Parts: sequence; C-alpha cells; structure tokens
Amino acid sequence: AIADLKGLKQGALRLAVVTTAKYVIPRLLGPFCQRYPGIDVSLTVNNHAWVLESLADNRNDLYILSQLPEDIDVKVHPFLENPLVVLAQRHHPLAQERNIPLKRLAEEPFIMREPGSGTRKAVQKRFDEQGLELKVKLDLGSNEAIKQAIAGGLGISVLSLHTLALEGPNSQLTILDVDGFPIEHYWYVIYPSGKQLSVIARTFFDYLLNEGKNVAEATAFQGVFSKGRKPEG
Ligand code: PGA
Repeated sequence: AIADLKGLKQGALRLAVVTTAKYVIPRLLGPFCQRYPGIDVSLTVNNHAWVLESLADNRNDLYILSQLPEDIDVKVHPFLENPLVVLAQRHHPLAQERNIPLKRLAEEPFIMREPGSGTRKAVQKRFDEQGLELKVKLDLGSNEAIKQAIAGGLGISVLSLHTLALEGPNSQLTILDVDGFPIEHYWYVIYPSGKQLSVIARTFFDYLLNEGKNVAEATAFQGVFSKGRKPEG
C-alpha cells in the first residue's frame, strides 16, 4: 500500500522504556526518524514500576524493560543484553582484585537505586539468595546520580553496563570482577497480547528487532565493551 512506502508513514509513536534503556533507544531513533520523517516520537523514561503502570493503563504503543510483568498478558520479544555490573571508583582497593566473593561486597557501603527500580530488584534478589545483607548507605533515584556518588567515593553500586556508554578512557569508574557478575539480564520489547499494533508501532518494532541490535552494538555497545575488558595478564 502507498501509505507503507518509506518516508510516507505519518503519525505518532509512543514508547515507554526503563532507565537502563535510555542509553540505547534514543540513539536507535536517529536512523529510524531519518528514514521516516513523518513519524513523531514520544519517549518516556522511568523505572520498572512506572513502565509497568503505563502498560497497565495502555498509555504507550511499546514498552522496553528487563523484568516481565507477572499479572498482565503480554507479547514478549527479547531485544538486547542488559548486563548488570558492579561499579566502583577507579582507584578503589578492590579494583585490582579478581573473583571477589559476593560476601566481600556486602561489607562495602552500597549505593542503591530507588524502590520501584528493576535494577534494585535484581540486586536485592542476588544478595537475598545468598543470605547476605547489603550495607545500603544511600538510595538514589538515578543511574547518573549513582555514578557521580561512586566517583565521589560514597560507595559501590550495581548498574547496567550500558550506563557506561559515554564514559571515555578517563572515566572515574571501574567494573569490579565479582563472582556471579555480571548479572545476565535482557531487555524485552513488550505490548499487551490483545493489542493490535498500529502500522507505525509495527514499523518501529520491526526496526528494533531487525536492525536495532546491530545499530546498538556498532555504537554505544562497543565503547562499553572495550571499557569493560580486563587488562591482559
Ligand atoms: P530500572 O531499569 O532500574 O530503571 O527500573 C530496570 C531494568 O533494566 O529492568
């Protein structure tokens, strides 16, 4: 159909994504919006609990998160790895150690995401499973604020590897080599099972699943991975 031709698609695309995905999705929108200039995008970024609420209220077309809803029937498509890593100040005494036991982390002052965060949930679960209690020094409602707090020496934290996307070689943060980390997480693109996607939403959905991974890996992800690599020897 003529309306399906490239560049002729017109309309609104509403996306809701968890805060870890804000390091990737806006970047993917670049090539997409160039290809479809008639599509206007509204992207809201918030924590896991909030994205679930907006799903329950049917406020958006597509949702991206790492932990699936338990009580809403959704169509689920895995999108990209979202590993959770332990971050510390670059000169932290543990930075040189290998295979740090989880128990050792429990002794460090810890900076935690706010209640409602999926990252927080995953971290809490990992420590609960081992019967360990975290020494939470500070609750912060933002990945960026946590990175600043780590750099300021307030403690260590666990965040998505993607939060390091724009950290250069002079980053003040480093990834600790802790047993059982990274926590292997995945982002999923989801929408309610009963919902018929609009042509616009379907177009973005196909773009994400067919090309999004490549675009993401070719840009932000590469920097992230070279940063995360351990020194030789
Ligand atoms: P969040 O992101 O911590 O901002 O809720 C969660 C996730 O990636 O599941």
